[in-house]
Amino acid sequence: MATRIVLVTGGAGHVGSHIIEMLVKDTSNQVISLDNYFAGSKDNHIDGAEYRSGHTKDIETLVPETPDIVYHLGEYARIAPSFDDIQEVYDMNIVGTFAVVEFCRTRKVGKLVYAASSTKFAIEGNGRHQNPYAFTKATNVDLINNYGEWYGLKYAICYFYNAFGPRENGKGKYATLIAKFEHAYLNAKPLTVVKPGTQRRNFTYVKDLARGIIQVGEKGQGDGYSLNNTKGFSVVEIAEAFGGKINYIDGYPGRFDSGDNPIKARKELGWETTVDILDYIKEFKNSHSFTIE
Ligand SMILES: NC(=O)c1ccc[n+]([C@@H]2O[C@H](COP(=O)([O-])OP(=O)(O)OC[C@H]3O[C@@H](n4cnc5c(N)ncnc54)[C@H](O)[C@@H]3O)[C@@H](O)[C@H]2O)c1
Repeated sequence: MATRIVLVTGGAGHVGSHIIEMLVKDTSNQVISLDNYFAGSKDNHIDGAEYRSGHTKDIETLVPETPDIVYHLGEYARIAPSFDDIQEVYDMNIVGTFAVVEFCRTRKVGKLVYAASSTKFAIEGNGRHQNPYAFTKATNVDLINNYGEWYGLKYAICYFYNAFGPRENGKGKYATLIAKFEHAYLNAKPLTVVKPGTQRRNFTYVKDLARGIIQVGEKGQGDGYSLNNTKGFSVVEIAEAFGGKINYIDGYPGRFDSGDNPIKARKELGWETTVDILDYIKEFKNSHSFTIE
């Protein structure tokens, strides 16, 4: 019998779907997803959860229940296209998240868990101002920390670092890097790398990430839960692990490396990653029966 209401915003997206998959295994959870399907897909739905379609700015009417915990992932989630999409980014991340935070305050939700971005830890310059996406994510971290101070909001903030793994979006403008490389590999096409290619990322297995965010939901408090694989790789190293021709293009490379990554999740919760990106790529290649020239 469900005794706890858990709301996941962005539950039809990549990371959200893995959180839901883990949450529904515990029968004491009644799991509700709120997603506007801007980037999410019904293909990511998990049996046992209830899916509501709508924007987080309408959370007050779309969610009449008072959840015990809210995992807030439902935001515009891409860096490079955020320059072109600034109106959507502002609407979904600033207007939408303000409504979620207010909902948690006025309904006295037990805990708000926020999916923040490692973009603010850029080693060069000030990461939070490097693109519209990073700006909204860092601004929301400030907002939630301030609500903790001003109103006693109960919250925990996780930082994500390039999730990879099942259900990653490989198509169109919002495709993620590993999924794009997998798609190119399967179609024997060159891998496209934004110059210079030396930009490094801490690719983190999505199921490790989902387990971490749930641990933070259970026991975490306050800011600073980085859920990263500590091994960083450049985009070129990843492309070389797939093999084949690399096509270098001009574009927005994003930050070059992550600087100051808080270690609170490892220290406080004993969280660790279990799958590394190079092993995952090796297994992906082994499970497909052809080789490319
Ligand atoms: N994947 C990563 O590597 C990564 C890194 C840092 C931070 N994050 C954050 O984690 C969260 C999930 O990322 P993801 O990779 O699963 O992205 P995703 O695009 O697959 O999932 C986001 C989901 O939220 C939905 N959504 C967006 N705005 C919404 C709104 N205003 N109201 C309701 N639904 C909305 C989308 O339709 C989508 O299903 C995002 O907040 C993202 O910023 C992700």
